[in-house]
Amino acid sequence: MKAATAAAHHALDERLGQFDLTTTAHYRRFLQASAAALLPLEAALEHAGVAACFDDWARRRRSPAIMADLADLGGVAIPMSLPVQRPDRAFVFGTLYVLEGSRLGAAYLLRVVAASADPKVRRAIRYLGHGAGVGLWHSFLSQLSREPATPDDEVRMIESAREAFAVFAQAVACA
Ligand code: HEM
Repeated sequence: MKAATAAAHHALDERLGQFDLTTTAHYRRFLQASAAALLPLEAALEHAGVAACFDDWARRRRSPAIMADLADLGGVAIPMSLPVQRPDRAFVFGTLYVLEGSRLGAAYLLRVVAASADPKVRRAIRYLGHGAGVGLWHSFLSQLSREPATPDDEVRMIESAREAFAVFAQAVACA
Protein backbone atom coordinates (compact mmCIF):
# COMPACT_ATOMS: atom_id res chain seq x y z
CA MET A 1 0.00 0.00 0.00
CA LYS A 2 2.92 2.29 0.72
CA ALA A 3 4.27 1.98 -2.83
CA ALA A 4 0.82 2.21 -4.40
CA THR A 5 0.02 5.46 -2.59
CA ALA A 6 3.48 7.10 -2.49
CA ALA A 7 2.68 9.58 -5.29
CA ALA A 8 -0.65 10.52 -3.68
CA HIS A 9 1.10 11.02 -0.34
CA HIS A 10 3.77 13.17 -1.90
CA ALA A 11 1.21 15.37 -3.68
CA LEU A 12 -0.75 15.85 -0.47
CA ASP A 13 2.37 16.61 1.49
CA GLU A 14 3.26 19.32 -1.07
CA ARG A 15 -0.21 20.89 -0.89
CA LEU A 16 -0.18 20.89 2.90
CA GLY A 17 3.29 22.39 2.86
CA GLN A 18 1.70 25.56 1.46
CA PHE A 19 -0.18 26.14 4.70
CA ASP A 20 1.54 28.20 7.37
CA LEU A 21 0.19 26.29 10.33
CA THR A 22 1.47 28.83 12.83
CA THR A 23 -1.24 31.31 11.73
CA THR A 24 -4.81 30.95 12.93
CA ALA A 25 -6.27 31.43 9.43
CA HIS A 26 -4.15 28.74 7.79
CA TYR A 27 -4.35 26.32 10.70
CA ARG A 28 -8.17 26.65 10.73
CA ARG A 29 -8.26 25.92 6.99
CA PHE A 30 -5.99 22.91 7.48
CA LEU A 31 -8.26 21.56 10.23
CA GLN A 32 -11.39 22.24 8.16
CA ALA A 33 -9.95 20.33 5.19
CA SER A 34 -8.78 17.48 7.42
CA ALA A 35 -12.19 17.26 9.09
CA ALA A 36 -13.99 17.34 5.73
CA ALA A 37 -12.13 14.11 4.89
CA LEU A 38 -11.77 12.50 8.31
CA LEU A 39 -15.40 12.74 9.47
CA PRO A 40 -17.02 10.88 6.55
CA LEU A 41 -14.16 8.35 6.37
CA GLU A 42 -14.50 7.48 10.07
CA ALA A 43 -18.30 7.30 9.69
CA ALA A 44 -17.87 4.96 6.70
CA LEU A 45 -15.46 2.80 8.71
CA GLU A 46 -18.02 2.51 11.48
CA HIS A 47 -20.69 1.58 8.96
CA ALA A 48 -18.30 -1.09 7.62
CA GLY A 49 -17.85 -2.60 11.09
CA VAL A 50 -14.41 -1.27 12.03
CA ALA A 51 -15.11 -1.89 15.71
CA ALA A 52 -15.43 -5.63 15.03
CA CYS A 53 -12.01 -5.63 13.29
CA PHE A 54 -10.21 -3.34 15.78
CA ASP A 55 -11.22 -3.75 19.41
CA ASP A 56 -9.41 -0.49 20.24
CA TRP A 57 -11.36 1.53 17.66
CA ALA A 58 -12.63 3.89 20.37
CA ARG A 59 -9.01 4.90 21.02
CA ARG A 60 -8.30 5.38 17.31
CA ARG A 61 -11.21 7.58 16.19
CA ARG A 62 -10.34 11.25 15.99
CA SER A 63 -13.61 12.89 14.90
CA PRO A 64 -14.35 14.27 18.40
CA ALA A 65 -10.77 15.59 18.70
CA ILE A 66 -10.87 17.50 15.41
CA MET A 67 -14.35 18.86 16.12
CA ALA A 68 -13.14 20.21 19.46
CA ASP A 69 -10.11 21.89 17.81
CA LEU A 70 -12.35 23.43 15.16
CA ALA A 71 -14.74 24.74 17.78
CA ASP A 72 -11.82 26.42 19.57
CA LEU A 73 -10.78 28.20 16.37
CA GLY A 74 -14.29 29.02 15.12
CA GLY A 75 -14.02 26.63 12.17
CA VAL A 76 -16.67 24.48 10.53
CA ALA A 77 -16.59 20.93 9.24
CA ILE A 78 -18.35 20.19 5.98
CA PRO A 79 -17.99 16.44 5.38
CA MET A 80 -17.15 15.41 1.82
CA SER A 81 -19.35 12.88 0.11
CA LEU A 82 -17.54 9.62 -0.46
CA PRO A 83 -17.40 7.38 -3.52
CA VAL A 84 -19.49 4.24 -3.11
CA GLN A 85 -17.40 1.31 -1.92
CA ARG A 86 -18.21 -2.15 -0.61
CA PRO A 87 -18.10 -1.84 3.21
CA ASP A 88 -15.99 -4.94 3.87
CA ARG A 89 -12.74 -5.74 5.72
CA ALA A 90 -10.60 -4.73 2.74
CA PHE A 91 -12.24 -1.31 2.84
CA VAL A 92 -11.58 -1.09 6.59
CA PHE A 93 -7.90 -2.01 6.33
CA GLY A 94 -7.18 0.12 3.24
CA THR A 95 -8.92 3.20 4.62
CA LEU A 96 -7.51 2.82 8.10
CA TYR A 97 -4.02 2.47 6.63
CA VAL A 98 -4.31 6.06 5.38
CA LEU A 99 -5.87 7.44 8.57
CA GLU A 100 -3.40 5.72 10.89
CA GLY A 101 -0.47 6.66 8.64
CA SER A 102 -1.53 10.29 8.81
CA ARG A 103 -0.45 10.22 12.47
CA LEU A 104 3.18 10.07 11.28
CA GLY A 105 2.77 13.33 9.41
CA ALA A 106 0.78 14.77 12.31
CA ALA A 107 3.74 14.33 14.66
CA TYR A 108 5.78 16.55 12.35
CA LEU A 109 3.01 19.12 11.89
CA LEU A 110 2.52 19.26 15.65
CA ARG A 111 6.04 20.59 16.04
CA VAL A 112 5.26 23.38 13.56
CA VAL A 113 2.04 24.29 15.36
CA ALA A 114 3.80 24.27 18.72
CA ALA A 115 6.00 27.12 17.42
CA SER A 116 2.97 29.37 16.79
CA ALA A 117 2.95 32.72 18.55
CA ASP A 118 -0.82 32.38 18.98
CA PRO A 119 -1.75 30.51 22.19
CA LYS A 120 -5.16 29.59 20.71
CA VAL A 121 -3.40 27.74 17.89
CA ARG A 122 -0.93 26.11 20.27
CA ARG A 123 -3.79 24.79 22.40
CA ALA A 124 -5.94 23.40 19.54
CA ILE A 125 -3.88 20.25 19.08
CA ARG A 126 -6.23 17.45 20.09
CA TYR A 127 -6.27 16.14 16.50
CA LEU A 128 -2.57 16.45 15.69
CA GLY A 129 -1.50 15.19 19.12
CA HIS A 130 -4.08 12.41 19.27
CA GLY A 131 -2.67 9.04 20.34
CA ALA A 132 0.91 10.31 20.47
CA GLY A 133 3.24 7.80 22.07
CA VAL A 134 0.63 5.03 22.25
CA GLY A 135 1.95 3.08 19.26
CA LEU A 136 -1.29 3.09 17.26
CA TRP A 137 0.55 3.01 13.93
CA HIS A 138 2.63 0.00 14.96
CA SER A 139 -0.32 -1.90 16.37
CA PHE A 140 -2.24 -1.17 13.17
CA LEU A 141 0.65 -2.53 11.07
CA SER A 142 0.92 -5.68 13.13
CA GLN A 143 -2.79 -6.34 12.79
CA LEU A 144 -2.55 -5.66 9.04
CA SER A 145 0.25 -8.20 8.76
CA ARG A 146 -1.89 -10.84 10.49
CA GLU A 147 -4.94 -10.17 8.31
CA PRO A 148 -5.55 -13.19 6.05
CA ALA A 149 -6.00 -11.42 2.73
CA THR A 150 -6.42 -12.99 -0.69
CA PRO A 151 -4.78 -11.28 -3.71
CA ASP A 152 -8.23 -9.92 -4.51
CA ASP A 153 -8.54 -8.48 -0.98
CA GLU A 154 -5.14 -6.84 -1.39
CA VAL A 155 -6.23 -5.18 -4.62
CA ARG A 156 -9.34 -3.89 -2.85
CA MET A 157 -7.31 -2.61 0.12
CA ILE A 158 -5.08 -0.63 -2.23
CA GLU A 159 -8.14 0.74 -4.01
CA SER A 160 -9.60 1.88 -0.68
CA ALA A 161 -6.31 3.46 0.39
CA ARG A 162 -6.14 5.36 -2.91
CA GLU A 163 -9.74 6.50 -2.50
CA ALA A 164 -9.01 7.73 1.04
CA PHE A 165 -6.02 9.75 -0.19
CA ALA A 166 -8.22 11.14 -2.99
CA VAL A 167 -10.80 12.30 -0.42
CA PHE A 168 -8.06 14.16 1.51
CA ALA A 169 -6.67 15.63 -1.72
CA GLN A 170 -10.09 16.89 -2.75
CA ALA A 171 -10.73 18.34 0.71
CA VAL A 172 -7.39 20.16 0.68
CA ALA A 173 -8.01 21.46 -2.85
CA CYS A 174 -11.30 22.95 -1.66
CA ALA A 175 -9.80 24.48 1.49
C1 HEM B 1 2.48 17.89 5.51
C2 HEM B 1 1.87 16.80 5.83
C3 HEM B 1 2.52 15.46 5.99
C4 HEM B 1 3.82 15.14 6.24
C5 HEM B 1 4.98 16.08 6.46
C6 HEM B 1 3.91 13.72 6.29
C7 HEM B 1 5.05 13.01 6.57
C8 HEM B 1 5.12 11.66 6.73
C9 HEM B 1 6.28 10.95 7.19
C10 HEM B 1 7.59 11.58 7.62
C11 HEM B 1 5.97 9.64 7.17
C12 HEM B 1 6.89 8.50 7.57
C13 HEM B 1 7.55 7.96 6.33
C14 HEM B 1 8.30 6.72 6.60
O1 HEM B 1 8.45 6.32 7.76
O2 HEM B 1 8.72 6.11 5.63
C15 HEM B 1 4.61 9.52 6.71
C16 HEM B 1 3.96 8.35 6.53
C17 HEM B 1 2.65 8.23 6.13
N1 HEM B 1 1.77 9.27 5.90
FE1 HEM B 1 2.25 11.21 5.89
N2 HEM B 1 2.69 13.17 6.05
C18 HEM B 1 1.82 14.22 5.89
C19 HEM B 1 0.48 14.14 5.66
C20 HEM B 1 -0.22 12.95 5.54
C21 HEM B 1 -1.64 12.86 5.33
C22 HEM B 1 -2.60 14.05 5.30
C23 HEM B 1 -1.92 11.53 5.19
C24 HEM B 1 -3.21 10.86 4.97
C25 HEM B 1 -4.36 11.43 4.84
C26 HEM B 1 -0.68 10.81 5.32
C27 HEM B 1 -0.57 9.45 5.23
C28 HEM B 1 0.57 8.73 5.51
C29 HEM B 1 0.67 7.30 5.46
C30 HEM B 1 -0.43 6.31 5.07
C31 HEM B 1 1.97 6.98 5.86
C32 HEM B 1 2.55 5.57 6.05
C33 HEM B 1 3.45 5.14 4.91
C34 HEM B 1 3.98 3.74 5.22
O3 HEM B 1 3.32 2.77 4.85
O4 HEM B 1 5.05 3.65 5.83
N3 HEM B 1 0.33 11.69 5.54
N4 HEM B 1 4.12 10.77 6.45
